[in-house]
This record gives sequence, structure tokens and C-alpha cells, in this order.
Amino acid sequence: VEAALADGPLKGKHVLVTSGPTHEPIDPVRYIANRSSGAQGTAIARSLAALGADVTFITGPADVSPPSGVKVVKVQTAREMKDAVDTALPADAAVFAAAVADWRVENASGSKMKKDGSGKAPALEFAENPDILAGVSQLKKGRPKLVVGFAAETDDVDANATAKRKRKGCDWIVANDVSPETGIMGGSENAVSVISDEGTEVWPRLSKDQVAAKLAEKIAGALT
Ligand code: CTP
Ligand code: CA
Repeated sequence: VEAALADGPLKGKHVLVTSGPTHEPIDPVRYIANRSSGAQGTAIARSLAALGADVTFITGPADVSPPSGVKVVKVQTAREMKDAVDTALPADAAVFAAAVADWRVENASGSKMKKDGSGKAPALEFAENPDILAGVSQLKKGRPKLVVGFAAETDDVDANATAKRKRKGCDWIVANDVSPETGIMGGSENAVSVISDEGTEVWPRLSKDQVAAKLAEKIAGALT
């Protein structure tokens, strides 16, 4: 491992990786979030570090522990994640594997919300969170050479992911089908397609660690 760190193809390259869910508070004891174990993002950060990259790993509250040999920045909310990304820049490449909550609760309460006995549920109001991937993809100054997004879809995976890549302006989109019947959500395997200017590469179903290793190799190829 020491030798890999010293001699890998990504030696001297700074790569930032976002991972895990974000938690958006409703009150001090409740939150809304996306489903994400953080397993795929963690494996990607580990694989990049194994190729010698200097990795900044920005993670929401995930089920899995961060890898060793990377700089870990822990956040809770989407806005904290965006601030951490801005602070971590510049980077040679940025990989956005986090499942960011699209909305935060605008009328979050500073104290625990209590049932009032009326049987009526509180009305939550939502505001859209900043799109961290789109912001970095569209930077006029200091944009990473390679920006990689993810698209977890349940329907029309390729069409949705291709449109998402255009809309956000990232270089690659790693698309996967997370329909319940695939068993991918929460599992140890992933089946992805990598969409770029050069077309779509369909990868076989592999372990998340193997997907991470393959993606890190492809990133090394693009940066060197
Ligand atoms: N992403 C991000 N910031 C957000 C939302 C998403 O950085 N506020 C990133 C994710 O990390 C991922 C990519 O954007 O790399 C796509 O996320 P996804 O949720 O599939 O896209 P959305 O634009 O939020 O579209 P949808 O309405 O399908 O959720
Ligand atoms: Ca989303």
C-alpha cells in the first residue's frame, strides 16, 4: 500500500469525492434524507487513494466508515456539503457520489415539535437545496479538469442520465438502475453505465469495490 501511495498514476493529483446522504433537520430530533449507505462513494475514495491521489472525502452521515489515507470532512446538510466542496477546491477531478437531499425544511423548528392533541400533522415547507454538482461543473474559473456525477434512476435510466449530464454540464455521468427489483440499493453490488462525450460504456454487474477500482483507473487515464 505504501508503494502504491508513492508511485500511483494519481500521485500529486487532488481529487474530491462527495458521498453518503445529507440530513436536513425538521427539528432537533428529526430529519429528512435520501437512502444511501455511502458504500459506493467510500469505495471510490479508497480506490483513488490506492492509485496515489490526494483525496478529500466529504461525507454526510453514512452507514460505512470513511477509508483511511484520505482527508475526511463530515457534514450533515446539503448546504454544509456545498461549503465543504467550495473550501476543498481547487481539485484536478471531482466525483459527486453523494445522495444529496433535493429539499430542506424551510420552517425547521429549533425545539422539538410536539403533538398538540388535535390529531393534525404539522405542515412542513420545503426549499430547494443548491445543486453542488451543477455549480462545480459550470464554474468559469477553477473548474476541475474532470467532473463526474452520478444518476441513480428507477425509470428510463439512460435517457434520464444523458439529459442530466447535459443539464448539469459534468463530463461523465455514472448511471445506475436503483429499482427495488435490482436489489442494488443497500447491497454490495452495482451495475452502472458511464456516459461521456465518447458515448456510453455499459459495465457488467460487479461488486461496488470493483466498480470503484474500474472508475479510479478510468479517472487516472483521463488525468494523465
Ligand atoms: N447532486 C448534487 N447536489 C444536489 C443534488 C444532486 O451535487 N443538490 C449530484 C449528486 O451527487 C449526483 C448528481 O447530482 O452526482 C445527480 O443527482 P440526482 O439526484 O440524480 O439529480 P437531480 O438533479 O437532483 O435530479 P432528480 O430530480 O432526478 O433527483
Ligand atoms: Ca436528486
